Amino acid sequence: MPRTLIAGGAGFIGLHVARALVSRGHEIDLLDSFSRGVKDSDLKEFLEVPGVRLLQLDLATEPLEHLDTGYDYIIHLAALLGVRNVRQRPFEVLALNHTMTERAVALACRQKHLARFLFSSTSEVYAGTLRYFGMPIPTPESTPLTVDDPAEPRTSYMLSKIHGEALCRYSGLPYSIFRVHNAYGPRMGLSHVIPELLRKAHELASGGGLEVYSPTHRRTFCYVADIAEFIVRILEIPACTGETLNIGTESPDISMAELGALVLRIAGRDAPVIALPPSPGSPEKRAPDMSRTTRLTGYRASTDLATGVRLTYEWYSRNVFAGAGVSAV
Ligand SMILES: NC(=O)c1ccc[n+]([C@@H]2O[C@H](COP(=O)([O-])OP(=O)(O)OC[C@H]3O[C@@H](n4cnc5c(N)ncnc54)[C@H](O)[C@@H]3O)[C@@H](O)[C@H]2O)c1
Repeated sequence: MPRTLIAGGAGFIGLHVARALVSRGHEIDLLDSFSRGVKDSDLKEFLEVPGVRLLQLDLATEPLEHLDTGYDYIIHLAALLGVRNVRQRPFEVLALNHTMTERAVALACRQKHLARFLFSSTSEVYAGTLRYFGMPIPTPESTPLTVDDPAEPRTSYMLSKIHGEALCRYSGLPYSIFRVHNAYGPRMGLSHVIPELLRKAHELASGGGLEVYSPTHRRTFCYVADIAEFIVRILEIPACTGETLNIGTESPDISMAELGALVLRIAGRDAPVIALPPSPGSPEKRAPDMSRTTRLTGYRASTDLATGVRLTYEWYSRNVFAGAGVSAV
């Protein structure tokens, strides 16, 4: 039975990946400090599954020497992220993300028979190239990366991920890097566009409208079960070793105004979308070129946007909007 450690495993993507791996027969250790992850009912239920353990510790600061050296796979998802952290704590975003990746790599290097180390990077690594030089959209992984202006706090996150990608490459480990593009779904907190619009639509007073920032900006959103399936396939398929791959979906590409209308429909609200100005620093368009990932993994995202948004709304209504559950911000 393969043994897998997921650093950041109590978070949004982590728990979905863990569930997918358990269904494929893995034993799972979830390592998390709960700096953002929360002990909600989904996590508690998952911890009841035989072969699943929680290691509550801080990857950036606490000793790791006592951890097992018999893992087959390590998936490193732990990171400080999100607009608020990036704007208010850029030093910690850069320094802690660097330290966590360095320590996760060192832990991986101590393993006796590690088959793969997986590192989660981000579509943000393309932000500098998009801003200064323009680039193809959908964007292939071969696009040269440009470091954005360090005077902007937002650069801290992309720098930490470009640096993390380089650490993986130079580590001598059998690694795979995946660049996540616009994941959404249950348990992602509230500070992302889809849960935020769902909350506003859910709470809309009669006669009101749904306020949508950057209404003309376009994105391709990928449901978290598909993100998890990509990660599991990257882990399982030997040809993905040494690869850097986009994960997400190339289509449909939808404007924020269209997304607002879809959210209103799913929340059952007959109300207009009210267009607000673009958010600062938000690119007009972003989409991954998925041809390389599809060729290597044999997979394309299969959850259509309306279904994914409905599943997300149902989960948030039940667990968060009703006021009964806990949710990370
Ligand atoms: N969600 C997205 O759309 C998206 C997009 C691009 C990249 N990513 C990347 O995917 C990964 C997972 O993202 P997510 O959306 O699941 O985020 P998340 O915040 O839900 O998960 C990250 C987890 O890491 C944990 N963590 C943070 N600091 C830690 C520490 N010092 N020690 C141990 N655990 C710690 C948090 O408690 C959290 O549970 C991250 O590396 C992120 O940069 C996500």
